[in-house]
Amino acid sequence: CGGGDDAGSSGGGGDDKITMGFSQVGAESGWRTANTKSIQESAAAAGIDLKFSDAQGKQENQIKAIRSFIAQRVDVIAFSPVVESGWDTVLKEAKDANIPVILTDRSVDSQDKTLYKTFIGSDFVLEGKKAGEWLVKEYEGKSDPVNIVELQGTPGAAPANDRKAGFAEVIKADPKFKIVASQTGQFTRTDGKEVMEAFLKSQPKIDVLYAHNDDMGLGAIEAIEAAGKKPGTDIKIITVDAVKDGMTALAAGKINYIVECSPLLGPQLMDLAKKVKAGETVEQRVLTQETTFTQEQAKTALPDRKY
Ligand code: AHR
Repeated sequence: CGGGDDAGSSGGGGDDKITMGFSQVGAESGWRTANTKSIQESAAAAGIDLKFSDAQGKQENQIKAIRSFIAQRVDVIAFSPVVESGWDTVLKEAKDANIPVILTDRSVDSQDKTLYKTFIGSDFVLEGKKAGEWLVKEYEGKSDPVNIVELQGTPGAAPANDRKAGFAEVIKADPKFKIVASQTGQFTRTDGKEVMEAFLKSQPKIDVLYAHNDDMGLGAIEAIEAAGKKPGTDIKIITVDAVKDGMTALAAGKINYIVECSPLLGPQLMDLAKKVKAGETVEQRVLTQETTFTQEQAKTALPDRKY
């Protein structure tokens, strides 16, 4: 946890500075780094005292952090859950302590929606569908089989589950699309590279790579090049996120299409925290605005890309 400066919060009463406990997934990707920066900068700009904790990809660390925020009696708890399930007990503890919880980026599968005030983030199923729709268009009018390999995100994480489901739903309409291999690359470059190396060895013909984020796609590009193949040409590549490195590879023709997932959730999160603290009602679901990028669109957008 960071911060730790109590100045101004002594004296009792009269201090209305909001304290937010935030538990982050980790630092697995460029997206995550941009997300952390957005949250830290927006908290400072909004005058919110942020207690930031990095879970290093482990649910048990997030549960510990949330319990510690409850013990410290923060005003609001926000977190981006590593995985979707297993949150009911600790969320109930926060509710019993009267500390509102805001889910950011990823949701939980709890049936009791009163365990959190709101969820701000992307529609990951829609992202998967957009990836599938691009592929269907790209191969329109062709009948040869299209062999796809898939690099999944962290097992059990909402974006991994949903991006897989959305993509599968769209491509199942045409039997020429076949997912010949699908494995986790943990949302990291290193694992993306390693798993792609294995795919290249085990699969005689790969036409398309669908990676659940840019980082895994970027790792896979290294593996494809090392195998003497041309990413973007010999193997078409679709990824999700649109961070700067991904957009650079897209503009260079090494990726074919990126579905955007915005990490810039900080400003809206701080607004929601203020409203929740003030007892105002907020929407149960706040959706992030996002788009898609072709290679040409990436060239135009790249100079102004902040992250
Ligand atoms: O939850 C958002 C996902 O998590 C991003 O797409 C991925 O890059 C990150 O690690």
